[in-house]
Amino acid sequence: MVQGPPVPSSVLQGPSLHGILMGEYSRGQESLGTCLEHRGSKERVLDILVVGSGGREHALAWKLSQSPDVETVFCAPGNGGISLDATCVPIEATDFRNLIAFAKEKNIGLTVVGPEVPLCDGIVDAFQKEGLLIFGPNRRAAEIEGSKAFARDLCLNHHIPGPHSWTFTNLAQAYGFLQAYNGEQIVVKASGLAAGKGVRICSSLDEARRAVSDMMDANLFGEAGHKVVFEQFLQGEECSILALTDGDTIVPLESAMDHKALLEGDQGPNTGGMGAISPAPAANPRTIKQVESHVLVQTIHAMAQEGRKYCGVLYAGLMVTPLGPRVLEFNARFGDPETQVLMIRMKSDLLPFLIASSKGDLSALKAGPVWDQRPAATVVAVSGGYPGPYEKGKPIEGLDSLREEEDLVVFHSGTVRDPEGVFRTNGGRVLSVTALGSNMDQALARCYAALDKIHFEGMSFRKDIGRRKKK
Ligand code: GLY
Repeated sequence: MVQGPPVPSSVLQGPSLHGILMGEYSRGQESLGTCLEHRGSKERVLDILVVGSGGREHALAWKLSQSPDVETVFCAPGNGGISLDATCVPIEATDFRNLIAFAKEKNIGLTVVGPEVPLCDGIVDAFQKEGLLIFGPNRRAAEIEGSKAFARDLCLNHHIPGPHSWTFTNLAQAYGFLQAYNGEQIVVKASGLAAGKGVRICSSLDEARRAVSDMMDANLFGEAGHKVVFEQFLQGEECSILALTDGDTIVPLESAMDHKALLEGDQGPNTGGMGAISPAPAANPRTIKQVESHVLVQTIHAMAQEGRKYCGVLYAGLMVTPLGPRVLEFNARFGDPETQVLMIRMKSDLLPFLIASSKGDLSALKAGPVWDQRPAATVVAVSGGYPGPYEKGKPIEGLDSLREEEDLVVFHSGTVRDPEGVFRTNGGRVLSVTALGSNMDQALARCYAALDKIHFEGMSFRKDIGRRKKK
């Protein structure tokens, strides 16, 4: 079903937004043919290149490898576990020259970019310059994630709901602001990319000053922390809503909720994500409608008005407050670990959506993806010490017994496979056990039962995923 954009007519100036695609997508030969025509042959299969090496990329490679229209999924550089579902290629995600050479040599039909760093560095621009089809926003559009200060200005200038915010590049002025803010709870963010670790929720003036000093003075995140953004602390329930877009039409995906803090009860430092559930408890139909119209459509429209047409996946990290949803952050890519729960729930073929987004013809697909109505959960197991320094190379036991489980997948985030075929830890986030269940309790119980069978030295995981209380 294609609907007109549910935005107030006052914001319908400038580039037109054709609509929101929702409901069930039934894969017709005609639309798929359109998707594949760039291959320029009668052959109805593509080779795909997924760029990245984490749990998100494993979930994307796993899902794309099930497409009837995909011959081979390559993943660069991938990881030990990804090699079960894709052919891993030893090219780093930021090595554009060799990625392009590989895509040309293998006649790759579509490249799908997982992480933010290559997007913010312009991988899409580099591929497009060579005439290669690639899924994701270009460098200027990816700034919606690469610069928190830009994202905040965008919200402010285009009436996209978010917390009050203030940006500083001068340490003394930042301290002066905090003094005047009077020690109230405040969020301190490094404006640039910091692998999900550049956010501190501070409850006192001392804590906030320390966060600023770490970023602006001690250089904890390098240049990314030389500009800081302060945000009003919001009460509510977090929720992530992602949408595929070609800059004109949006395809909202199901909702999810991430758990970013390392420890139970949302204590400890922020991480790249310790677990996720889908759907998000806060995402009731009214909230979803509000997010679609006031956040997703509004943002795509705003980016077009700024001359930064946005294609790819737009990730809105939201706080659902009593006054409605508020944008905490935008990401220019699929979330990790949200992608793990979204991919296990998506029943439709992902490929036509990614191709249509990359080619700018999402409106040719008649409806959005079909979803498994069962909820899903994922729980991330991490190395001892993460998100600080951790050891690598620990053998991982218990994975074999889980391969036969139905609707349960162990996505690998940081593993290698040694010459004997043994999986070993190779990162802070090591793996994410992801399962569907007849209800959320069952999905979570299945994840935890599987984690009981897995072991590596120093392994830890949160025991309260999906149990978070309202803030
Ligand atoms: N799950 C948060 C992120 O992907 O940044």
